[in-house]
Amino acid sequence: MNDPQLPLRPNIAEMEGYVPGFQPPDAHTWIKLNTNENPYPPSPAVATAIAGELGGEGENLRLYPDAGSTRARAAAAEAAEVYAYPPEWVIMANGSDELLNNLIRAFADPGDEVAFVEPSYSYYATLVEIQGARARRFHLDENFNLVDFPARYNGKVFFLTSPNAPLGFSFSRECIADLAARCVGMLVVDEAYADFASTSAMDMVHEYPNLVVTRTFSKSYALAGMRLGLAVAHPQVIAALDKIRDHYHLDRLALVAAEAALKDQAYLHQRVEQIRATRERFSAALREGGYTVIPSQANYVFAIPPDRNGEGVYTRLKEHKILVRYFARPNLCHGVRISIGTPEQMDAVLQVLEV
Ligand SMILES: Cc1ncc(COP(=O)(O)O)c(C=O)c1O
Repeated sequence: MNDPQLPLRPNIAEMEGYVPGFQPPDAHTWIKLNTNENPYPPSPAVATAIAGELGGEGENLRLYPDAGSTRARAAAAEAAEVYAYPPEWVIMANGSDELLNNLIRAFADPGDEVAFVEPSYSYYATLVEIQGARARRFHLDENFNLVDFPARYNGKVFFLTSPNAPLGFSFSRECIADLAARCVGMLVVDEAYADFASTSAMDMVHEYPNLVVTRTFSKSYALAGMRLGLAVAHPQVIAALDKIRDHYHLDRLALVAAEAALKDQAYLHQRVEQIRATRERFSAALREGGYTVIPSQANYVFAIPPDRNGEGVYTRLKEHKILVRYFARPNLCHGVRISIGTPEQMDAVLQVLEV
């Protein structure tokens, strides 16, 4: 059969498409430390809320969800110290990926420049390609400072992943304030992992109207399967994002899950503390075994073996049904990114690596 000649936009016809981290079909037979999921279940309030929303026979599913995510936004706005913003400063999303996508669509025309740090979350490049914008990469020096960032940066959007993925370090608040002042366009601080960190730029949104902070429920809230994220930004930015999103982007179950999870901050903090403690213990053990481990502010570590052969570590662990993330890129192939699981899972890693 001949391929039909479809009138695709040239950039879509030519692009490769994003390859997400491997999700094995038999996930339960693996120790899965490759996509930074939470090893613990979400707050028990989430399952209760979902069951309640489903109703006995799922009768509520007949009806469209609340297009404005009103209750979830209010819960986010109220939730504890980090989200202390009025609801008009907050938007919910179908995973933070949806926000990253819509931020580019809102601020960058085809041909405009959008920047991010190399290395960081590789999905930004795909989103830039889809939009037909131009990607610019800023590199890091050996102390994780940005190299050659202009005094006045004219790109439309600059994505700063903090904590950095996959390296795990956080940019300081001073650095973020400095970047916000230098950016003529939008500075998006992707705080997917900030619940595990000791620093955040969330409160700085008040001061810088061009600053957007995005968060995900996929990691600290253990809700990767629900696809939930949020952003905090000036109400004008939120209004723009509201205009361009799909109107019913969050389903009924996701909305009640978000609200329940946000209202259970005590559970969040307890799980985050557990994971941080495991991270510190695991990092120390690897270092004792001769590995270099970048001090991590996230729920993963970037670990470099003494022989700087990241692929070797990946393969060895895979032979024992432990999945970690190896990046075959020149600036990352000397190590692996290992998500922090339960203490028992991390002990299994240490045992295979004989450290
Ligand atoms: C830095 C970073 N940003 C955003 C995301 C996407 O998160 P979500 O699951 O909310 O779409 C990820 C997922 O791994 C990530 O690592």
